[in-house]
Amino acid sequence: MRSLLDIVDLSVAEIDELIATANDIIANPDKYAEKCKRKKLATLFFEPSTRTRLSFEAAMLELGGSVLGFSAANNSSAAKGESVADTVKTVGCYADIIAMRHPKEGAPMIASMRCDVPIINAGDGGHNHPTQTLADLLTIQREKGHFDNLVVGMCGDLKFGRTVHSLIHALTRYKNVKFVLISPDELKVPEYIIDELNKEGIPYVETTSLEDAMPELDILYMTRVQQERFFNEEDYLRLKDSYILNAAKLVTAKKDLCILHPLPRVNEISVAVDNDPRACYFKQVS
Ligand code: CP
Repeated sequence: MRSLLDIVDLSVAEIDELIATANDIIANPDKYAEKCKRKKLATLFFEPSTRTRLSFEAAMLELGGSVLGFSAANNSSAAKGESVADTVKTVGCYADIIAMRHPKEGAPMIASMRCDVPIINAGDGGHNHPTQTLADLLTIQREKGHFDNLVVGMCGDLKFGRTVHSLIHALTRYKNVKFVLISPDELKVPEYIIDELNKEGIPYVETTSLEDAMPELDILYMTRVQQERFFNEEDYLRLKDSYILNAAKLVTAKKDLCILHPLPRVNEISVAVDNDPRACYFKQVS
């Protein structure tokens, strides 16, 4: 078995096969209930996560396997100065496969070079998030039935948004996909991705206006402005509410617009739960 560090590590045929398998698991879960019996997955999360870590763990349990790991760097020997290489070398003695999230770009690649078991990149800094992309592709396939001939709007933090980078790389391999890249100037898609789009002749436009873009979109991929990637609080505060989706903005949308990856709007929720101890949960996901 090999590592999955970047979505382009998978061919289009392999992605199609994974999507077909995922659809079959959804339709026939019992068929897969023992597929990973006696296998162990380690989830090494050096950065916070709700969806990714728990979905990995739930998937392994559904497949009859076991899980071990940690959900924060300070729950591992990283807190005592252990290197990523030493951590994965050690964990590779206990587990058959490792899913790893790390704030540093490229950390899962380094891990894969130092470890005897496959590494799955569960998000590395502002770089890539290939398994989120597999989930996004499955959603698009189930909602639209195809990946060709789509106008895909990417909105919000396109600079640090690792899920955006991976999804663009996946969709550029299909026919007649156009990207509408909607962001403030400070959070535009990195230059290296624009260079790749230009080189491949993939159509795209960059805009700051979600309202102007809305009518032509088949897919709208929303991302949050990520506080943890900013070097100063002032820039974060200025940009954090740049794109909030609401009913008024959707008035001109196509009837079958598919919206992916939105997060709850924390201000509205936290007003409602100001005196509720669970409010910290809502603050974390904003
Ligand atoms: N989509 C995603 O990566 O969510 P988490 O940070 O909760 O894992």
